[in-house]
Amino acid sequence: MNDFLLYLSQRLTLSRLQHPQGVMRVVADLVDIFRVERDQAVTAGLLHDAATDLNQEYFLRYVK
Ligand SMILES: [Fe+2]
Repeated sequence: MNDFLLYLSQRLTLSRLQHPQGVMRVVADLVDIFRVERDQAVTAGLLHDAATDLNQEYFLRYVK
């Protein structure tokens, strides 16, 4: 998880970094209710907006 946090902290502004951390905490509270695998769900919560601040040029190169 620390590798993912490092990845995000290098790419997102501080305010954008707080949002996925909050989502990750909410997901952690919900995994038992929805009976999903904890590590996968928490990771998905943390990374769900990981590409938000990537620029359009990057996306175009990635799609090609
Ligand atoms: Fe989001």
